[in-house]
Amino acid sequence: MSSKILIIGAGGQIGSELTFKLRTIYGEENVIASDISYNNESIVNSGLFEIVDAQDYASIKICVEKYNIDTIYLMAAMLSATGEKYPMKAWDLNMSSLFNVLNLARAKFIKKVFWPSSIAVFGPTTPVNYTPQYTVMEPSTVYGITKQVGERWCEYYFNKYNVDVRSLRYPGIISWKTLPGGGTTDYAVEIYHEAIKNNQYECFLKADTELPMMFMDDAIKATINIMQAPDDTIKIRSSYNLAAISFTPESIANSIKQRLPDFKITYNPDYRQEIANSWPKNINDSYARQDWKWKHDFNLDEITEEMLTQLSKNYNQ
Ligand code: SER
Repeated sequence: MSSKILIIGAGGQIGSELTFKLRTIYGEENVIASDISYNNESIVNSGLFEIVDAQDYASIKICVEKYNIDTIYLMAAMLSATGEKYPMKAWDLNMSSLFNVLNLARAKFIKKVFWPSSIAVFGPTTPVNYTPQYTVMEPSTVYGITKQVGERWCEYYFNKYNVDVRSLRYPGIISWKTLPGGGTTDYAVEIYHEAIKNNQYECFLKADTELPMMFMDDAIKATINIMQAPDDTIKIRSSYNLAAISFTPESIANSIKQRLPDFKITYNPDYRQEIANSWPKNINDSYARQDWKWKHDFNLDEITEEMLTQLSKNYNQ
């Protein structure tokens, strides 16, 4: 299975860990990390790295030709909370980057594309419990609008131009290596950092705000599984619902208290509460489980164990 891979947005929360994992599978020389800046030093210094502007078709194409790339993982995006502050920038970045990559595939410079969608494609009129794959979708954030429209374009490029594009609707992703930025689910990462540093956390969502979440290892596994799955098992070319667990700020705090009994959480909801209120509580991902045998590994207490162990090592170094 030879593959030359370019990750766009490799400095980000998911892009960085995806890069490390893909290098162990395909070899250092076959996985090229790229981003708009040199900000993430661990990515810049860990292997092949290029500056690529996802909004500039030529910038991506030069890199594709230089390394003979056949597969792109497009991980660059502006997330939900930042997108509400800069609506036009979010629209421009999220859409132009997707069109650039889809058009490179349509023109046969590359063979395969991974593009992440999100639970943000759903909106206040969507059923909140066990949200089905096919349901009402009226996203109320700019980010969600870009993801929903992007899904339509992915399916369109598959149907009309035979572009092999695969996509997942990620829930909130919890990880300790690279911080997330600008998302509504970011509290579920910040809380562990603050627990280790200060034994307390002020949460920007209310105690009972239930959202779908997933540990990074599971998100990476799902991403690689869908990309490696045989063509005929990928029956959905817009984007697959994907789920692991769901919890509230109160339940993550209780999970932390089992290990750090003095941990304190307070609540001070801000504009992100409205975004969270518009998203599902949990997701029905039966198509992913059926079509390409998706299965998650980590529950909340296992995530807490891993996060607190890894972060306390980092902060005590
Ligand atoms: N984690 C994302 C966000 O909060 C959802 O896809 O914006």
